[in-house]
Amino acid sequence: MEAHKQLTIGLFGFGVVGEGLYKVLQQTPSLRATIKKVCIKNPTKQRNAPAALFTTEKEELLSDESINVIVEVIDDANAAFEIVSIAMRNGKGVVSASKKMIAEHLPEILELQQETGLPFLYEAAACASIPVIRNLEEYYDNDLLHSIKAIVNGSTNFILTKMFEDKLSFQSALLLAQQLGFAESNPKLDVEGYDAVNKWAILLNHAYGIVEHPDNILFTGIQNIQLSDALVAREKSLDVKLIAQAKKLSNGQVAAFVLPQFVKHDEPLSFVKNEYNGVVIESGFADKQFFYGKGAGSFPTASAVLSDISALRYNYCYEYKKLYHHNPHELTTDYYLKVYVSFDDWKYIPREKFEWIEEWHADADRKYLVGVLHAGELLNDSWWKENGSSLILSPDPVIDNIDIINLKKRSLELAGVV
Ligand code: HSE
Repeated sequence: MEAHKQLTIGLFGFGVVGEGLYKVLQQTPSLRATIKKVCIKNPTKQRNAPAALFTTEKEELLSDESINVIVEVIDDANAAFEIVSIAMRNGKGVVSASKKMIAEHLPEILELQQETGLPFLYEAAACASIPVIRNLEEYYDNDLLHSIKAIVNGSTNFILTKMFEDKLSFQSALLLAQQLGFAESNPKLDVEGYDAVNKWAILLNHAYGIVEHPDNILFTGIQNIQLSDALVAREKSLDVKLIAQAKKLSNGQVAAFVLPQFVKHDEPLSFVKNEYNGVVIESGFADKQFFYGKGAGSFPTASAVLSDISALRYNYCYEYKKLYHHNPHELTTDYYLKVYVSFDDWKYIPREKFEWIEEWHADADRKYLVGVLHAGELLNDSWWKENGSSLILSPDPVIDNIDIINLKKRSLELAGVV
């Protein structure tokens, strides 16, 4: 695409994000970007824009040669992938906010970009208004990222804040998240962690060059968290958050997961409330950096789409530097996690699977323990999210294999065995 050109946009979707983008573009005439046509699924729905703008025929956008950019913000992942593939093969640059589609089709999307040489940008697909993808691509263009720890789903963070700070019920908090346009059309995607793991699969690529289907990443959502867990957290001066984390291990492989986690009050992520997202990056020399911003909602998400549209004027493309120009890292589940599990009955807990249990409370109705498990055990089994059991990670949960060996050796020494 030639630089600084007029952008003529074909927009797919006019929901929370699509309508937000329409309004935002009207307020930024300096961008020289106009929406020529909007393709929608339901023609009978009342829309806040002139009727002539809308069509239900995708070909009207995809085959229109005057349209040089397709913006795709629909929530049907399969339809979105088809639109993106046709648009790029027809020579159009694409901006997308479809996290599920991007996470599930990453290999094909990488191929499409190599094959066509066209830009495909998706900053809105992770942490909405926080420019995390471009930062990981451009600023951390090196091999020094030690870890990333983030809140990447606005709805679950909103629900946890409303439940534990404002004493709303789970159902009322979820309803509010839906009314405010934060939740997915199927809120199970938010609540059970699917949306967060999709975003994490995308960010793992830009951070570490890892291309992994979200099914292969250890995750759950906030569906099993109980009020009693929040009480334990309060007693220990901790918060409960849904945290996505990736950490480079001593052998260079990467541990990555999305799980509820206890967060200390003095950690930056403890400060992230409601629909806000936050990302803490730890890198060599810079130490810790914290990015904070709205992670859901119409205008915050549209602002990221707008920034991608703007970047297209300068032919910006992701270079996937960690994947193509460095040695990509490998994901592993061969490490250990320090976990808290609360449960109704001991019979639901396979105690033999723990490396060790260092704390347990069995007196009240709701029992809990704190112990160490192999991460592979959690990925391959599901006892920890069944029968009302609730697993929450300790504040600094990742234990390297090498540390496990040393810890075990020390405890044997202390016990006088060796
Ligand atoms: N449902 C998503 C969230 C929207 O709550 O984070 C933004 O991706």
